Amino acid sequence: MSNSHSMASDIRSEFEKAFGHSPDVVAQAPGRVNLIGEHIDYSDGFVLPFAIKDVTTVAIGKRADRTLTVASVQRPKDKYVTSLDNLAPLTGEPWSRYVLGVLWAIPNHLQLSGMNILIDGRVPLGAGLSSSAALECSVATALNHLFDLQINLEDLARLTQRAENIYVGVPCGIMDQSISLMGKAGAALLLDCRDLHTEEIPFEIASENLELLIIDSQAHHSLVDGGYAERRASCERAVGQLGIPSLRDISVAELFEQGQSLDELTFKRAKHAVTEMKRVLDAVTALQARDFLTLGKLLNESHASLRDDYTVSCVELDLAVDTAIAEGALGARMVGGGFGGSAIALISADSVDRVKAAISSAFAAKNFKAPRFFTSLPSDGAKVLTEPA
Ligand code: GLA
Repeated sequence: MSNSHSMASDIRSEFEKAFGHSPDVVAQAPGRVNLIGEHIDYSDGFVLPFAIKDVTTVAIGKRADRTLTVASVQRPKDKYVTSLDNLAPLTGEPWSRYVLGVLWAIPNHLQLSGMNILIDGRVPLGAGLSSSAALECSVATALNHLFDLQINLEDLARLTQRAENIYVGVPCGIMDQSISLMGKAGAALLLDCRDLHTEEIPFEIASENLELLIIDSQAHHSLVDGGYAERRASCERAVGQLGIPSLRDISVAELFEQGQSLDELTFKRAKHAVTEMKRVLDAVTALQARDFLTLGKLLNESHASLRDDYTVSCVELDLAVDTAIAEGALGARMVGGGFGGSAIALISADSVDRVKAAISSAFAAKNFKAPRFFTSLPSDGAKVLTEPA
């Protein structure tokens, strides 16, 4: 029995226990790491994420009335009950908004029926690995199937992003939802955030004796919400002052020529975005040539740009990255929104234990919370799970 099948049968029996009937659909969606292309999805950039093996699974059963009940395997005491007619942005229990926001974002959602919904979230929370996108995309995938909505993956990504932007109130871009829906085993996805066009870029590093270590710094700085919105606003300010549709529409050389009119901070923010867009395309070329030394260098440059120009790193992430590099990593960088969360390091497979130990003791020496480590191969995106055979 495959892992997905055992996951499906677990959640089916949990659902029956919680609601006294079988679910009509079970679906799952993964979290993600981003190889490179950080904080540029909302500037129409290219990004290069892959889906990880950790998933959120959801089971949904239709009801004859208009009641919506949302329960979670991880929070057995917290059943949230509302009605299809009461869905409104920024209302209800914060954790249930990720689920109900997706329902709300479905066109003509009032024509759906009531539902019982059970969530089993196995993407590490707060680690910057997009547990929220995994939750939204698992629900969207299940609803698309259950009500035969025929919504394509691009529109599902836009719909789940809208749920998070408006219903949850987080001004995220479209990378996390897109990769959670469209991920492919064995590949990173070159995603054009302007039109959601994708290209699979094989990411197979084991045969080179390499490993991508994911380091959860366990830091969560409270700047997170305001800091993210502030960075988006500075990119919009740069775009307005430069008179261009988006930061995608200016080269690095042009920015250095035309950016003199921008104030210093706005210029630095724009510089990160424009140089990061170039690094993504250079990383694709490096990956296609299996040139991992160049890929590592680009990861380091991305981190420096996020730390110095975009200022979204933090001491814990910098320490994880610097220690990994001091231990021989080909490259390392923070991933995701920043101000905490995870970093990745491209390291030789034989050095995994040594790098982990060095990072753990560097954290201990500074009295930082102990970091957590993960590895994951690029995995498939969201899917409906069928009954075990
Ligand atoms: C968060 C957001 C994404 C993206 C990243 C930074 O994960 O949800 O849309 O902006 O930060 O690259």
